Amino acid sequence: MQLFRTKPINQLLADASDKEHGLKKALSGASLVTLGIGAIIGTGIFVLTGTVAANFAGPALVLSFIISAAGCVFAGLCYAEFASMIPISGSAYTYSYATLGEFIAWIIGWDLILEYLFASSTVAVGWSGYMVSFLHDYNIDIPSVLCNAPFDYIKGQGWIFTGSIINFPAIFIIALLSTLLVIGIRESAGLNNIIVAVKIIVILLFIGFGLSYIDTSNWTPFIPPNPTGEFGNFGFSGVLRGAAVIFFAYIGFDAVSTAAQEAKNPQRDMPIGILGSLLICTLLYVLVSAVLTGIEPYANLNVPAPLALAIDRTGDALMWLRPLIKIGAIAGLSSVILVMLLGQPRIFYTMAKDGLLPANFAKVHPRFRTPYVTTILTGIVSGIIAGLLPIHILSELVSIGTLLAFTIVCISIIILRKKRPDVERPFRTPFVPWVPLAGAVICLIQMFSLPWETWERLLIWMAIGLVIYFTYSRKNSKLIQ
Ligand code: ALA
Repeated sequence: MQLFRTKPINQLLADASDKEHGLKKALSGASLVTLGIGAIIGTGIFVLTGTVAANFAGPALVLSFIISAAGCVFAGLCYAEFASMIPISGSAYTYSYATLGEFIAWIIGWDLILEYLFASSTVAVGWSGYMVSFLHDYNIDIPSVLCNAPFDYIKGQGWIFTGSIINFPAIFIIALLSTLLVIGIRESAGLNNIIVAVKIIVILLFIGFGLSYIDTSNWTPFIPPNPTGEFGNFGFSGVLRGAAVIFFAYIGFDAVSTAAQEAKNPQRDMPIGILGSLLICTLLYVLVSAVLTGIEPYANLNVPAPLALAIDRTGDALMWLRPLIKIGAIAGLSSVILVMLLGQPRIFYTMAKDGLLPANFAKVHPRFRTPYVTTILTGIVSGIIAGLLPIHILSELVSIGTLLAFTIVCISIIILRKKRPDVERPFRTPFVPWVPLAGAVICLIQMFSLPWETWERLLIWMAIGLVIYFTYSRKNSKLIQ
């Protein structure tokens, strides 16, 4: 029964108001929306749109985006109820500790560690690609053995050496941003605001100027027929596989909830932050993918910088937009890495406060008031992963892990409404249980649309987590002392 012991909500709230040793409360509703957009718009729109259109969905990429967004909006409404009710660092981990018990909370926490660690690595690899391409336009060439992963996994062959040594630019950006985060959240959020503005302007320019170059014949057939009958190879199953892969583009709005303890007025600001950032991004994604597949035939889009390719198609008129898109992407990807690196240590911090991880993980820097031990640890581990592995392995693992966390959050909402109807809910998810159920079902469908190898990696990660839980966390949990 110990496995299902829950952390009392009143104790959670008391922990949250422990101002003396707590984190700095610096974030307003607007800065949470910016934080969310900073986390959301990144590799998904700048890199994966082309891959999904060319390999799985064709112009129906728009549909993949809408299906994936539906799951995120439903899960986002659940996140908003939880985050406003339990405004404490730790996101889905904390919510499940209060509802489903310690064991499930551990699973979620361990799953979130996977999400944030690997997401910052994934996006750092994307950043490296754009940076290398941008520098190349100005005749600065980094040797390819120093900007690619030394390991890869190829279906049928297994793990291989690629001949490269390390992805140095990916390690560089993680080291730089981790240092910034140790110095302080206010400064980091200020930089994030500027970067978010740059990437939104670039995306709006792409949509605005691209519109008049759309050739509607590129949109037919809207859902290209499946030539082989194999799952995910165009046709409707391609749209579903596309939704699961492009789901990566939405990851990040939940990072807003990990900053709940640092919000000035969490009850009002968390729902604004989560839903506001999600809605803005969905609108931008749908418009970008319609313009992208309208300008360039979808089959050509499997390239590292599909938006820049589409601009090439418009002739010389929009050439000035090409470097701007690369700068916007580099800035955009930086802000995604920043928020991921910001969210990760706060999950460690919360789990350490509960005794599930060593107490050192909860250390707050005396002057900067940031969780510096875990920020540095996160930077080191995430940098190593980014230096060694390719983007496709990392991104699929992040997607499956995050979809699992979303599913559990949706289910927790239904359970908590029954178990604790008395707790004040400044924001209530509408149409419970239907909205949470729809969220869980859409997320599960996307999980099952991902390849089996991704499931295997998720299971291995979870098995490691179980060993740690049963050998360390269960015995050190604060709930038994
Ligand atoms: N949503 C983030 C991205 O697209 C993780 O890069």
